[in-house]
Amino acid sequence: MATRNIDIKAFRSLSCGLYVVSAKGGDKVAGCIVNTFLQVTSTPARVTIAINKENFTTGVICEAGRFEASVLAESAPMELIGRFGFHTSADTDKFADTQHAIDPYGVPYVTEHSVAHFGVRVIDKVDVGTHYVFVGEVEDAEVLSDEQPMTYAYYHLVKGGKTPPKASSYEPAASGGAPDSAPAPAAESPRYGWRCMICGYVVEMDELPDDFTCPMCGVGRDMFERVEL
Ligand SMILES: Cc1cc2nc3c(=O)[nH]c(=O)nc-3n(C[C@H](O)[C@H](O)[C@H](O)COP(=O)(O)O)c2cc1C
Repeated sequence: MATRNIDIKAFRSLSCGLYVVSAKGGDKVAGCIVNTFLQVTSTPARVTIAINKENFTTGVICEAGRFEASVLAESAPMELIGRFGFHTSADTDKFADTQHAIDPYGVPYVTEHSVAHFGVRVIDKVDVGTHYVFVGEVEDAEVLSDEQPMTYAYYHLVKGGKTPPKASSYEPAASGGAPDSAPAPAAESPRYGWRCMICGYVVEMDELPDDFTCPMCGVGRDMFERVEL
């Protein structure tokens, strides 16, 4: 058998954006962050997403046979990404505190900090192990703002964001280590804060209370590391 030589760093050179994929099936409404929304053909306009089988959104897409995808802008706050990327729709109404619109099929899609949205009908589903790849036909596409779309690199390098285990691009070896973004340049008298090692949320505070939980992803104090701001 041929030996494999896989350098995990090679995957980091792949470019992609950040999207909220949403679906509605019966009385279930769901949405999550993906970085795997991709146009694959233009005539007809077809797209794919790779989405973890354990995400609640995946089951709702399977049931409904359609989904919406909103393209996030660079201005999207970490709280919005945290809400859709680190919590599950199984027990959270993610749209309750999110500006959204409803498409002709009753599917909500995020409009705040969004550059465009796509209404998609699923035409195929490929089982790729941990994830399904949905192939879909675009039935509706609309520009929502002229903001810059957020790239995955921007999310990591500028926003200091992290990647949770269910994301297609998760790197187990990197998950518990040092933050993967460059720290801010040191000021003359350094300020200190705490960074969540799960989602990257930073709070400027000298000491974290024992009962502190991350407002973004919900983990406890022991998942925070002290950082210079
Ligand atoms: C930056 C980022 C990228 C992500 N990319 C993907 C992805 O491509 N596919 C996927 O299945 N999950 C991805 N996730 C994880 C889901 O958004 C996350 O598991 C979410 O909590 C699922 O929510 P749900 O249970 O409501 O569907 C990503 C999360 C983040 C923060």
